[in-house]
Amino acid sequence: MKVFVTRKIPEPGLNLLRKEFEVEINPYDRALSKEEIIGELKGKDGLLCLLTDPIDEDVINSEPKLKMIANYAVGYDNVDIKVATDRKIPVSNTPGVLTDTTAEMAWALLFSVARRIVESDEFTRSGRFKGWAPMLMLGQDVSKKTLGIIGAGRIGTAFALKSKGFNMNVLYVDNRLNETLENELGAKKVDLPFLLKESDFISLHVALNKSTYHMISEKELKRMKKSAVLINTSRGPVINEQALVKALKEKWIFGAGLDVYEHEPEISDELKKLDNIILQPHSASGTIETRTKMATTAAENMIAGLKGEIPPNCVNTEVFKGKL
Ligand code: GLV
Ligand code: GLV
Repeated sequence: MKVFVTRKIPEPGLNLLRKEFEVEINPYDRALSKEEIIGELKGKDGLLCLLTDPIDEDVINSEPKLKMIANYAVGYDNVDIKVATDRKIPVSNTPGVLTDTTAEMAWALLFSVARRIVESDEFTRSGRFKGWAPMLMLGQDVSKKTLGIIGAGRIGTAFALKSKGFNMNVLYVDNRLNETLENELGAKKVDLPFLLKESDFISLHVALNKSTYHMISEKELKRMKKSAVLINTSRGPVINEQALVKALKEKWIFGAGLDVYEHEPEISDELKKLDNIILQPHSASGTIETRTKMATTAAENMIAGLKGEIPPNCVNTEVFKGKL
């Protein structure tokens, strides 16, 4: 069987695939256009794709032989799951392996914004540091503050648990009660307006879908404290970027740390000019260990799927109804 990989991923994953299949990989060091993916998909049984690839109806239905889609990401909003499911094509993601890594990036951003690390580095490096000063680069304390988690799934939970050493008061918004957070941190499940009003640090860990699109917009930003810090390592369109520009410019909040953008990879010029924001290039899962595990996880899912087995991280198991 033949598999197309839309961009070079770490070798251990490619090697697993090569043992089982004929593997073709995007030869360029860039994302492919939708038309290019359709072209490469001709005659392939499996597609291993990235979160930057729009795997929509046109792509999925362009190849009648296609029987497995392995997304190299935990988020799979880039894949039209309904179309894949109608075609009985299993789709898999890479959960678990990137949970701590992503949570660590959220903490890195939280501290960097709270203590103005990037701004201070530029200040110091450029020779403007003339000695200790009482009012120099004042930030926000983290210990004993209120931490607000929006989306208490795997990553949100791991992120919250890492607050233990900072003795924080933890609030969360989720559809479900999170017993781990309630038992281990005394965390409280609250509604969004309450979380926004009470939290000093707010971190987004939701999947992107209709109900989370622009979940943080003007009204929500206005509810936050003037000293609040907002962190987003989930998906860009969860925040209305223009509203965030306004909030940061007019200092409705203290600052923000973003790993993802509404119109990725485009970032509003106004956002880039602000000092009270730290920008990361969607690299929250970007460690050598984790990207390697994501590659082997995606490959293992591909192998299971093309053998007709249920992939270990299948996100549309209804495809197998009746076969179980
Ligand atoms: C990264 O954004 C992922 O979904 O894995
Ligand atoms: C700071 O360096 C202090 O000694 O207070």
